Amino acid sequence: MRPLIVGNWKMNGTLALVAEHAAALTAAASALAVDLAVCPPFPLIAPFAAQLGRESPVRLGGQDCHPEAQGAHTGDVAAEMLREVGASLVILGHSERRQDHGESDALIRAKVGAARRAGLTPIVCVGEKEAEREAGRAEEVVGGQLAGSLPDDFAGVIAYEPVWAIGTGRTPTGEDIAAMHRFLRKTLAARFGAARAGAIPLLYGGSVKPANAVEILKTAEVDGVLVGGASLVSDDFLAIARAALLARFAPSG
Ligand code: 13P
Repeated sequence: MRPLIVGNWKMNGTLALVAEHAAALTAAASALAVDLAVCPPFPLIAPFAAQLGRESPVRLGGQDCHPEAQGAHTGDVAAEMLREVGASLVILGHSERRQDHGESDALIRAKVGAARRAGLTPIVCVGEKEAEREAGRAEEVVGGQLAGSLPDDFAGVIAYEPVWAIGTGRTPTGEDIAAMHRFLRKTLAARFGAARAGAIPLLYGGSVKPANAVEILKTAEVDGVLVGGASLVSDDFLAIARAALLARFAPSG
């Protein structure tokens, strides 16, 4: 599988940043044998799509969607709307949504269904808090999130983002990432069968930077990364994409 490098801009970015990134990513993307995607805030998706143009290999995504296709839900955005303005992906169940908006596994599962209905690829985020890891409960927590957030017909991407590694500059050890990704693959295989589970890209997210990207991307069962802060700097985001290629030739960690 080609490495998948996704930028999550969170609540950051301007039209000027969109123009800069669209030009930089377009120039670099065709020479890079990786899949590149950017998830900007909702208002920036349409202008980003316009700047990239129809033929661009760079994909766009939303950072959330509502389970329903339309209706009286002030402030929410439907998966169909994301699709119409140029998104082909949507991040769901990010820990900041789980934390700031009290999103439950059941709600996230409903949103995954909405993504499928609209033809969007969901990127479902899971990850333990620091106290949960310290209590030896990381796999139990992540396993519970997987069981609750994924519908039986799941097709999409999983992102493992330990909450304590997001925006902190701290990352798990390579062995801890490998162990969790092995656990994810095994848990998905038990539910969906080995063939379907093997086709689900497993991303790591949490303080991915150009300096640690090769190390992380060469880890067993890591198929790509979900990048927050570093994705806002186009040179850094592209350095991470190049790291995915270097990781292919690095001794496995
Ligand atoms: P940082 O890369 O800023 O730690 O954010 C990770 C993240 O939450 C991506 O979804």
